[in-house]
Amino acid sequence: MKSGDIRQTFLDYFVRRGHTLVPSSSLVPTNDPTLLFSNAGMVQFKDVFLGREQRPYARACSSQKCLRVSGKHNDIESVGASPRHHTFFEMLGNFSFADYFKRDAMRYAWELLTQEFKLPSERLWITIHHDDDEAARLWEEVGVERQRILRFGDKENFWSMGETGPCGPSSEIHYYQGAEMASQRHEGVNSDDDDYWEVWNLVFVQYNRDEQGVLTPLSRPSIDTGMGLERLTAILQGVKSDYETDLFVPLLHKLMELTGQTSEYYQQHLATYNAIVDHSRAVAFLIADGVQPGNGGRNYVLRRLIRRASYFGRTIGLEQPFLSQLAQVVIEQMADCYPELQREKQRIIDLITSEEIRFQRTLAKGLRFLEMALEDPSCQHDKLLSGREAFKLYDTYGFPLDLTQKILSERGLRVDLQQYEEERVRQQQRSRNASN
Ligand code: SER
Repeated sequence: MKSGDIRQTFLDYFVRRGHTLVPSSSLVPTNDPTLLFSNAGMVQFKDVFLGREQRPYARACSSQKCLRVSGKHNDIESVGASPRHHTFFEMLGNFSFADYFKRDAMRYAWELLTQEFKLPSERLWITIHHDDDEAARLWEEVGVERQRILRFGDKENFWSMGETGPCGPSSEIHYYQGAEMASQRHEGVNSDDDDYWEVWNLVFVQYNRDEQGVLTPLSRPSIDTGMGLERLTAILQGVKSDYETDLFVPLLHKLMELTGQTSEYYQQHLATYNAIVDHSRAVAFLIADGVQPGNGGRNYVLRRLIRRASYFGRTIGLEQPFLSQLAQVVIEQMADCYPELQREKQRIIDLITSEEIRFQRTLAKGLRFLEMALEDPSCQHDKLLSGREAFKLYDTYGFPLDLTQKILSERGLRVDLQQYEEERVRQQQRSRNASN
């Protein structure tokens, strides 16, 4: 089944059950200063959950553009090496605003996975919050075997979008991807074992968390569910990495064509190839939603992503700007669902190219500066790059701090962050004095 059909099957299923299909909102949340980017399907419905906004429907479904690169939900360090974490991804979700609650949310999820998508129930595991006896009972009623229902604490089974806002206990559906059915064990769920994948998160929205962290029960308990399209596609296409699905393969093919390297080389540099194609999607979608590379807030996140991709490209031999060519594949692939990509095509290509050119002017010099700094015996001895040098890399050579950290971590080194911060504050002071 193609990813486009999977997305459509999900949405059709919920539309048939009385849900209104709501288009994805922008990656840039409107009227929400607490959040840099939409990081879940529920973000556009935050005020509906809180009873502050009314909509003409009590049930909704969507395929939401999400970005997890900052704040409470930040996956950037896993991207590339992990087969199933991304900066940008699509989250499939169904939502009930004080309409149905746990029982129906579970029933729908189970029926969709096991009957429409035909996933074997013998590979599915359920997690619930350890206090939620009701959830355990309802899952059994839905048809899940008792021994496949596992209890976890707040870390795994209590979901919040950020430090404040709607939240509540959750229940997740996990899928066992291993070759041997008989090797399944409950300890695998929520462990480092790559055979167990979290697929779908059902949140029972019951509270609002305020700035002091106090939970106030909502008068209208609701449902917020989220399932990453990329993971579901990998499972349904029978592959063990999202990057082997039709969502990423065309991008990887383009990247292989650009590098002109052999497939052995690609296998040896898998994490780098993966990170680049991941970033190309995030960058194209961010620009389509009005973000442009710059020095602060959202704009700086975009700049960081382009510069990281540009650096990664250089490590696999790409010395000329290349990222806009991948963005064009993203546009071709996704514009049917997200027409803003086509509308903003020229802007996407132009902004990526000019940002890449700008970074490439200093990238080689910056890398030479870094190599020299790393030769310093005290740096080698302490496995620590001084904050002053890391700041110079940022200030003079345009290296985002997280890029410097990434390069260092590959060699077992760190940045002296305290000194970096002191240097940053000193520099701010100097600029302020100069402008007074
Ligand atoms: N908001 C929850 C999540 O992002 C479920 O949609 O996992």
